Amino acid sequence: MNQNEFKKRRKTLMQQIGEGNIALIASASNHVRNRDVEFPFRQDSDFYYLTGFSEANSLAVFIPGREQGEYILFCQEYDEKKALWEGAHAGLEGATTHYQADDSFPIDDMGDILLGLLENKSKVYYPMGRDGELDHQILEWINHLRRQSRNGVNAPGELVSLEHILHEMRLFKSSAELKLMRKAAEVSCQAHFRAMQTCKPGMYEYQVESEIVYEFMQQGLRAVAYPSIVAGGKNACVLHYVENKDKLKKGDLLLIDAGVECEHYASDITRTFPVSGKFNTAQKKLYQLVLDTQYAALEQIKPDLPWNKAHDVSVEVITKGLVELGLLKGRISKLINDEKYKQFYMHRIGHWLGMDVHDVGDYKLDDEWRLLEPGMVLTIEPGLYIPKDCMTVDAKWRGIGIRIEDDVLVTKQGHEVLTQSLIKEIDEIESLMQIN
Ligand code: GLY
Ligand code: MN
Ligand code: MN
Repeated sequence: MNQNEFKKRRKTLMQQIGEGNIALIASASNHVRNRDVEFPFRQDSDFYYLTGFSEANSLAVFIPGREQGEYILFCQEYDEKKALWEGAHAGLEGATTHYQADDSFPIDDMGDILLGLLENKSKVYYPMGRDGELDHQILEWINHLRRQSRNGVNAPGELVSLEHILHEMRLFKSSAELKLMRKAAEVSCQAHFRAMQTCKPGMYEYQVESEIVYEFMQQGLRAVAYPSIVAGGKNACVLHYVENKDKLKKGDLLLIDAGVECEHYASDITRTFPVSGKFNTAQKKLYQLVLDTQYAALEQIKPDLPWNKAHDVSVEVITKGLVELGLLKGRISKLINDEKYKQFYMHRIGHWLGMDVHDVGDYKLDDEWRLLEPGMVLTIEPGLYIPKDCMTVDAKWRGIGIRIEDDVLVTKQGHEVLTQSLIKEIDEIESLMQIN
């Protein structure tokens, strides 16, 4: 992503913080896996959103109106030995030249310099409660300044959540962000397509997962947005099944929930299809109900409709469908009121999607579900999960788990499904799988 995009974001943030105040945010940390091996590093999304900087041990500071420069980046100094072992890093010079910080300092000097920067500021914006060490550090700096009040130094009087401003910004995607989200979505579509083409009875779930990961990596995207769920048969009824270890049986459905990340932007797709390529009658009926529910929910994705409308509609369609199929019995309005659908549809219709798979942003404003606006991206993912031991339904329904999930952009006219290219109609899936 072009550095100007990050610059624009910083400008917007500074305008909201206002002169006389300061904001700071730390990078993610490296985590040791064992001895000298670390877990793969993933930058903190908020930090990356404002800096585009992918190194650990960094801290960004924003001081609107500061004459010597409004954006300060603390990072690791360039170290030849480190470069030899671990590869390139920006160093202080790269922080200003490439990442456009107005000033850069060694992270080890952070304490002394920050004390000076915090002096006489009114509010300190930072992500409260996320990094215990930073929380503690900030309070220490403030206490230190308080002790100097007799020297005419004013300590900041207010600590404010930075997330509130930042997450509202992140909720609305720019065209540069959408470009990355489209790429992530498209590569994930291709990975799911590959899985459908390859799947055969007798394969193991992890072998299908390997086809997904193969496609991600072949296309240059190495990070999954979340651990892939590859769940055959009754495993699909475990919502966060990630063991992916069982053998796939003819006659079972396979639920795959997998998405890749492109430059820190996520995709999140679920498809469910028959291991053998052909749905049986019960599977077909439940699948069609989930698909009809998804279409009905998608109709509710347009500007000025409340976020929750799609969920409410999904509950109505699913409850009505379950009554028609005989899995629920009773009056539809009462079943909805009593939340009887929850034994088979226990999650919500979707979530915001962006740098994080369950992305940031408020779902309610002043206690009311917020209205959809162009630029928001969300998932629409109804599902039905009939536990294997559910004795209140006919045996033919038991152990079936189905979810269909797409990524959706709210547009001025309505919406655009970013994952449109991946098939989901029963006949499309069956014909694709018959060819193979
Ligand atoms: N893959 C996580 C979710 O669908 O919410
Ligand atoms: Mn999702
Ligand atoms: Mn998902």
